[in-house]
Amino acid sequence: MDRFSQEWAQTWAANLREDTQWSESAKEWKWSVLIRVRNESAWYLDLFRGECRAIRPAYEGEQADFILEADRAVWDRILDGDQRPMVAIMQGAITLKKGSILTLGRFASSATLLLEAAIRIGQKLPSTPEPVASRREVGTSETGRHDHFRTTSGRGLDHDAFPMQLYHKAKRLGIWDPQQLDMSADRSHWEALTDSERDVLTRLLAMFQAGEEAVTLDLLPLMRVLALDGRLEEEMYLTTFLFEEAKHVEFFQRIFHEVVGQDEDLARFHTPSYRRLFYEELPSALSRLDRDGSPEAIVEASTTYNMVVEGTLAETGYQAFYTVLEQRGIMPGVTEGIRLLQRDESRHVAFGIYLIRRLIQEKPALMGVFQDRMAALMPLAMASITELFAAYDPMPFGLKEEDFVQYAMDQFAKRMRRIENGQIQ
Ligand SMILES: [Fe+2]
Ligand SMILES: [Fe+2]
Repeated sequence: MDRFSQEWAQTWAANLREDTQWSESAKEWKWSVLIRVRNESAWYLDLFRGECRAIRPAYEGEQADFILEADRAVWDRILDGDQRPMVAIMQGAITLKKGSILTLGRFASSATLLLEAAIRIGQKLPSTPEPVASRREVGTSETGRHDHFRTTSGRGLDHDAFPMQLYHKAKRLGIWDPQQLDMSADRSHWEALTDSERDVLTRLLAMFQAGEEAVTLDLLPLMRVLALDGRLEEEMYLTTFLFEEAKHVEFFQRIFHEVVGQDEDLARFHTPSYRRLFYEELPSALSRLDRDGSPEAIVEASTTYNMVVEGTLAETGYQAFYTVLEQRGIMPGVTEGIRLLQRDESRHVAFGIYLIRRLIQEKPALMGVFQDRMAALMPLAMASITELFAAYDPMPFGLKEEDFVQYAMDQFAKRMRRIENGQIQ
């Protein structure tokens, strides 16, 4: 069957009508969609609240609430199942000519299911799942004995390896002490804020506080699995990583004790999507490494931890802090701490990029694991931003939801590009 023919469009619509998973995911969707194959054709998707009313050729000049345009080659890659649709949107291979990226972000998993229904056209058999990754061979220490030591066998440490460069950097830049920050002016600045300004900052701080505790508690399985694999330089770097996360927990605790005041119910600021990410996705991706040391499991864990939690959400959170604190010129102690913390985090994200690239270089099929994980977590990351904004009307400090969703999308795209375009450093 020819792609982008009438028959093809009708089959796509029929597939959607049978797809209860898609229907469930799209039950809040109420906008029309136009898909354009650049210089070729355009297709109107009449989708409303989980129902596919029609997929038909668009009329000349027809408009819709959402217009997505891409070259035929891009659509073909997607319909062959070789390119993830949400990844293509994030990378800009599909151009969003009209419609809100915010709304699309909320419906990312639904959009994926929508396109998967088109991918199924012409596929006779369900695609065979990849074999479940078996526990890969591990280094000697899991057997309870060492055969040799690197540092006494002539090879020694590789100081040029990227993790060692990060390790040396961390010894210079990562030893700041949260106790030494001067927070003497911060408390009076805090008290001069309005109730809703304090509320939104407390919310942000409560998200960071739990986030730092989560990454501190959850990192160990990654260290262990790399140590078992004999990755001495990577483990050495991760010792500084964990030390820094511990200090970040301490830093936010100090803010609560000395600036904001004690609050026993900060978890009330943790919205459903935040909880999914920090209470479930992050710990489960990392604790999986205790049972499964496969490269697939490591890529999933590092993507969740370094690319999404640190590289996207935390970065977006710093942006919010800076927008607020620097625009007002207030709370210099907190601002300084966040600057130092962000510098630590940039090393953490750099390590994640290095690790994921190394694993993909060793096994190129892992690129799909990385992309799938990014696409799966994107809706949650976006929703945790929109849920934050939904709690305020009007939003204090003039913060705009659209700006932060766009910022997070840009961070996502940046992380994707760093993994997809580069060599390991
Ligand atoms: Fe941190
Ligand atoms: Fe971190």
